[in-house]
Amino acid sequence: MDEETRKKRRSQVWFGAPFGQSGSRGWMKNQGYPHDLFDGRPVIGICNTWSELTPCNQHMRQMAKHVHDGVLEAGGFPLEFPVTSLGETLMRPTTMLYRNLAAMDVEESIRANPLDGVVLMCGCDKTTPALVMGAASCDLPSIVISGGPMLNGWWRGQRMGNGTTFIKLREEIRAGAFDPSLGEELEASTARSIGHCNTMGTASSMASVVESLGLALPQNAAIPAADARRNALARMVGRRAVGLVEEDLTMSKILTKASFENVIMTVGAIGGSTNAVIHLLAIAGRMGIDLTLDDWDRLGRDMPCLVNLMPSGAYLMEDFFYAGGLPAVMTEIGHKLHLGAMTVTGKTLGENLEGAASGNRDVIHSFDRPFKPQGGIVVLRGNLCPDGAVLKPSAATPELMTHRGRAVVFEDIRDFRARIDDPDLDVDESCVLVLKSCGPKGFPGMPETGNMGLPKKLLEKGVRDMVRISDARMSGTAFGTVVLHSAPESAVGGPLAAVENGDMIALDVPNRSLTLEVDAAEIARRLAERGTHDNAMASGWQRIYADHVLQADKGADLDVLVGSRGAEPPYK
Ligand code: FES
Repeated sequence: MDEETRKKRRSQVWFGAPFGQSGSRGWMKNQGYPHDLFDGRPVIGICNTWSELTPCNQHMRQMAKHVHDGVLEAGGFPLEFPVTSLGETLMRPTTMLYRNLAAMDVEESIRANPLDGVVLMCGCDKTTPALVMGAASCDLPSIVISGGPMLNGWWRGQRMGNGTTFIKLREEIRAGAFDPSLGEELEASTARSIGHCNTMGTASSMASVVESLGLALPQNAAIPAADARRNALARMVGRRAVGLVEEDLTMSKILTKASFENVIMTVGAIGGSTNAVIHLLAIAGRMGIDLTLDDWDRLGRDMPCLVNLMPSGAYLMEDFFYAGGLPAVMTEIGHKLHLGAMTVTGKTLGENLEGAASGNRDVIHSFDRPFKPQGGIVVLRGNLCPDGAVLKPSAATPELMTHRGRAVVFEDIRDFRARIDDPDLDVDESCVLVLKSCGPKGFPGMPETGNMGLPKKLLEKGVRDMVRISDARMSGTAFGTVVLHSAPESAVGGPLAAVENGDMIALDVPNRSLTLEVDAAEIARRLAERGTHDNAMASGWQRIYADHVLQADKGADLDVLVGSRGAEPPYK
């Protein structure tokens, strides 16, 4: 390392002299760091979302030690720091209310501290977008390592997928078709190891997003958390973080329009979560990249689903790893991808994919003989969602993709819970269930209530899917013919607010339309009568969130957080 390079390191503003920055070097020495660690070698922040309140990320203190070792092996100086963790299964009202808050924590922690590069350790659903968004607004050399999925769940010879199996069983129990006393045994079978959800839910989709963006090493998405190769990967990530700083390979050199387009195609091919749409739009916004819902439809339209994983299929992430993982899928769609896109390996995507192939055609199908003909995320437009709504065809019922039905309306989630099992509810399987007030401002936080449960009396009849429409999101582990993210949301006067019981609604997925069959003047009259509202607290974070959150089609980031502000601290 030459003297010039050493002096230029960002961390040297703090560590370059004995009494620089209020003597910060001396204070650090009380942790036992030898003097030579402050000599201008790359200081790598290890940004950790470990928390006992985030069970999916509970192993990340141990994993961070492997990252630490890797940084030291490559001649860097590792410094681990905690940021807000977002545990999907515990946080109320919804983790999405806090994604932007965590992103702000990450951004300010990076900018405020003597870091030259960052390792982002994330796993549970919102931790990945939060860390990438925050780091993107600083634009230091950064690399992601995901916690990895749990091992397959098993119960009486059947695979048990986190989320997907529960959602199915919940409906079976409500239908009286399953013994609820087996619940204790089942829940222990499902979540049986360290790691995040083992389905192709949001966590695995986002781990695939960062890998296909080029922000993570190959196989980041699929290696199970409990597999020794996950720790080896963590060690390689630590080493590589040092290399990124030495090569000045910042996030903006990797996150280009081409890499975002690669992600959209890959999410289609894996049957990924609809949540990936909203998070990718938000990440693109941080980088100033013009990405829209139309890009999702344009690039996903002809993309088949190649991966037979729950919730669209039968297998789980452990099977996916043994079959070749994400590099095998990306190789199958390689003729569509931008293979010249740069990645954190310092090589192009095409170079990273060399030699990758599917080892199990039942899990990872070929492009020519896909698992399902339509992957991708469908973007709908129409007078019910002028700014767009999304639907995941691989998890929907093909016969319902073109459907016209009578609306059964729930004004909010409390109304839904109070009436959905009412035997007198005027509903049949041809109806369209409409749920309002679940958007970013309305709830607040845009919860995963879009795959609302079906009426008990229809479940008892054997009905297992209906068309459902809302401004909410849906768990990536969920399934059904579910129209989500309707924008603008009902609480701000979006036309979803105008739907009344008995109105006819037409869903036409092949033609990408969603229509409320009520004339425009009547819709306008109803909206004027209803006005707007939000359900956020009058002060505190919820107030800041509700006053600044953007709509779903813009990624639901805060308007004041969009863009990259660089990593220079305001004062030196
Ligand atoms: Fe954390 Fe699914 S609940 S990844």
